[in-house]
Amino acid sequence: MCASANPVPTGRIDSDSIYYELYQKSIELGTWDANKLVEKVGFEEDKEVWDSLEEDEKEQWARLISYFIDGEQAVAADARRIMKSVSSPHFDRSLEKEMFASALAVEEAKHTQFFDLYITNVMEDKFPQYKIDNRRGGIQIPRTEACGAGEMFERQGTLQAQAAHGGNPADIARAATNYHIGVEGILARGGYYLKNNMMQESPLPLLNKGFQFISTDEGRHITFGLEVLQELIEKEREGVPEYQGVQKAIWDQAVEDIGYIVDTAYFVTNDVGDPLNADFDGVINRGSNLAGDMLFNTLELEGASARDFAMAASDAVNEAEGSTYDDVIDEYEHIYSQRMAGD
Ligand SMILES: [Fe+2]
Ligand SMILES: [Fe+2]
Repeated sequence: MCASANPVPTGRIDSDSIYYELYQKSIELGTWDANKLVEKVGFEEDKEVWDSLEEDEKEQWARLISYFIDGEQAVAADARRIMKSVSSPHFDRSLEKEMFASALAVEEAKHTQFFDLYITNVMEDKFPQYKIDNRRGGIQIPRTEACGAGEMFERQGTLQAQAAHGGNPADIARAATNYHIGVEGILARGGYYLKNNMMQESPLPLLNKGFQFISTDEGRHITFGLEVLQELIEKEREGVPEYQGVQKAIWDQAVEDIGYIVDTAYFVTNDVGDPLNADFDGVINRGSNLAGDMLFNTLELEGASARDFAMAASDAVNEAEGSTYDDVIDEYEHIYSQRMAGD
């Protein structure tokens, strides 16, 4: 199906590279068209279900979807920085990585487009504020701003900028951990777990279809990120001086991110009384398994254990349970309204 199954000789491109394989898969499978998808499936059925939902059920969906649209836009915006980081001299080869990063950029733009189309045509009553371009308005949707996800996306921008502008291997590792393990690998995949549960109570077929395409694309992005991290770890294990500290950077960032992620999970579930049975405990368990699998099975991180990670997650759960978010939403709604009025 991809290049390796039917090899056509390449010149400067290494066709055995995993990055090239991922790129080819994006070219082949990542070509779905968000606009055509919504036209083909139509909004009618989703709109009918949406209109039948109780207010608290709508609120629960809105909390989940707000962090998806803002998150997709944030990762799309930072894709340019990934292109820059992977071209740094800290990697032996860059061409195939840059090829894949360009596909990732298009895919993240498409994910942003899908959620924008969906909110506008189905959920707009719960999103009076979502139209300002983050880059111009400077703030995310009030619900995103109120929970850990908003903070996590801002942190992502800072880390990616540090990595792209002359960052050392530990800076690149930190940024890749936050983006590919934290945001894509746990926050987004935890979100799929929540939406799967919520779909049992309130099936939204078009939204589900979009999520299916998006999660397939995300699978490649996560694989890419783990490969990049493995390259850096390998150099550290070989004892190359400038790569020392890579594994520590990965661990530190993973622990920082778990705080943002658990807070977001709590915000979307128990803070609203979980009317659609999204299941807070279940998503925490799912997130811990995903993290453990990436950090300890795939990367074989040294100096920390899955147990340490579970303890960090449990501290974050205790902290989230003491949080209140409504005042923060109100505050940001006020700021957002002012920005919109100023447009
Ligand atoms: Fe995405
Ligand atoms: Fe992604």
